[in-house]
Amino acid sequence: MTRRQQNQSYANSDGRMWDMMILLLALSSSSFSEDKLNMCMDAKHHKKVPGPEGQLYLQCAPWRDNACCTANTSTEAHEDNSYLYNFNWNHCGAMSDECKKHFIQDTCFYECSPHLGPWIQEVDQSWRKERIFNVPLCKEDCHEWWEDCKNEFTCKSNWHTGWDWSSGINKCPADRKCRKWTEVYPTPKYMCEQIWSNSYLYTTYSKTSGRCMQLWFSGLNPNKKVAEYYINSAQQDQSFAFIMLVFLAFVQVVV
Ligand SMILES: *[C@@H]1O[C@H](CO)[C@@H](O)[C@H](O)[C@H]1NC(C)=O
Repeated sequence: MTRRQQNQSYANSDGRMWDMMILLLALSSSSFSEDKLNMCMDAKHHKKVPGPEGQLYLQCAPWRDNACCTANTSTEAHEDNSYLYNFNWNHCGAMSDECKKHFIQDTCFYECSPHLGPWIQEVDQSWRKERIFNVPLCKEDCHEWWEDCKNEFTCKSNWHTGWDWSSGINKCPADRKCRKWTEVYPTPKYMCEQIWSNSYLYTTYSKTSGRCMQLWFSGLNPNKKVAEYYINSAQQDQSFAFIMLVFLAFVQVVV
């Protein structure tokens, strides 16, 4: 065997080894993402695993085929000051039904969605171990929410923290006056991102794009495909980063 042939055969066996490693990496991360595509977060009222829930109530009904919420949670999602979180929508006067329906939908989405895996993060809170972060929302859902609420009043932009809970339900803290919705939230983007401390990310994607999550839908849950898309693109980034690392390590060895 000439020197050149020898080098070539080393290169080939090296190549096969890297192919194997990349394949293994791809396999391990794809079995991992199967879970991410269909799972429930570890939070206050979520089921352990998603499954059919034939009795889901009104606005939560679209999740009947596969849900992380129980029928009880879906009913409670429609109540004022429900036992779920004792949350008071009417902290600056009665919220209109037109606006409230978006908060009900938001609650159904949060409690019932089995496809939020790519955006679930661990969190150190007394009432939950996991939260959602930067879920890309469809433009229409965010705009309609803001439009239907723009005549309401509120005293806070972030509704997760800073309330006076001394009475058992959230009231405005003494130093926070009720202000016009549009003063607190100048834009739909500002509202969607701030209200639940960046649980949602505003996007300019429309509901037909397949690149954003839909709060409102009927029929087959369109969000599964969206989650799949984001899992796959994250995986591509991961593989790319891995290949770059391998490449850099190889260059170092050779040089
Ligand atoms: C849901 O469950 C809670 C706690 O068990 C209970 O207090 C509440 O009445 C139930 N709600 C409905 C609508 O069944």
